[in-house]
Amino acid sequence: MNGSLNIKENFKLLEYNTFGIDAVAARYVQLDTLADYAALVRSGLLLRHPFFVLGGGSNVVLPDRYEGTVVHPANKGIRLIDRQNGVCLVEAEAGEVWARFVDHCISNGWHGLENLAGIPGTVGAAPVQNVGAYGKEAKDVVERTHIVDIESGEERWVAAAECRFGYRRSRFKDDWRNRFLIDRVVFRLADTFVPDLGYKALATALADKGLQQPTARQLADTVTAVRDSKLPNPKVTGSAGSFFKNPIVCGADYERIKAACPDVVAYATADGGYKLAAGWLIERCGWKGRSLGPVGVYDKQALVLVNRGGCKGSDVRRLADTIIADVEARFGVKLECEAIFV
Ligand code: EPU
Repeated sequence: MNGSLNIKENFKLLEYNTFGIDAVAARYVQLDTLADYAALVRSGLLLRHPFFVLGGGSNVVLPDRYEGTVVHPANKGIRLIDRQNGVCLVEAEAGEVWARFVDHCISNGWHGLENLAGIPGTVGAAPVQNVGAYGKEAKDVVERTHIVDIESGEERWVAAAECRFGYRRSRFKDDWRNRFLIDRVVFRLADTFVPDLGYKALATALADKGLQQPTARQLADTVTAVRDSKLPNPKVTGSAGSFFKNPIVCGADYERIKAACPDVVAYATADGGYKLAAGWLIERCGWKGRSLGPVGVYDKQALVLVNRGGCKGSDVRRLADTIIADVEARFGVKLECEAIFV
């Protein structure tokens, strides 16, 4: 029994992925309310066919045809559920557009999300890959995540500490992959604004505007402007944002690369390793602005692969593999994709 579930067949996903891949899903279910999650689990559909959850489609590469079920959270709602001792707990439903959620929080004086302004995607995806930008990550603000077990239908909250958040990863991408649906998230925000200006490019952009002590809105607007200067506008050029993760290498590897290329861009990590700027590695391999078939490397940020027109998932795979091989041959470092191939 599917209750009121709205299941569509042979559903076109062109408008549902920022890469702009003209894919078709065998089945598509949109979840408009919290009750739809339980109804979908009860229907057993998720146990009968493979499925994947498609939020804003901003971090995926789709095949021409997906033979399983695409689950699209579209439930909306933002509620202040508690406010005391300077802490605001704000619950947002999974289908809220992330950038609009950030904007809404700033307008209401709930702070802590300003550095994450303008990130494409949805609220439900934020804990899955621990989205991050300009010195902040979802893990800094996620208090708890509400999940529905796709086998038992059990619903419960998981605390942030259970999620093993790491750089662009969490258990939702790892051992919890496809075991739960996320229907809402509670964020721990603050009612006073303290700007986080630790990211150098951000502090520089603010200083250039004479904004040493920005308001929350000015900080978010500056973050959005810096993003827009580096990343393609998905409405104009298809992409999945950063396509690769910045690789983390040991001290010896960093010293080896630095000896050969003293200008390598790297940041020391807390455990003694080094995070290398993958954009720099790719640019050094000569890929910035180049294309392979209908997929290219963005000319303002080499970490971003772009759709030059009509590309397929297999075209993206070919370019990604070629870049990974070139970076490995030149630097002995194996890049990992941040974007997910479905
Ligand atoms: N760089 C180059 N050439 C390039 C690109 C970058 O030399 O073509 C070097 C520059 O020195 C630059 C440095 O790399 O200063 C870092 O570049 P940037 O500030 O653009 O950040 P990133 O490390 O390339 C990461 C995130 C972005 C996030 C920015 C800002 C990952 C995979 N990407 O990019 O996240 O917006 O930092 O915090 O960690 C995303 O995940 O989709 C995303 C856009």
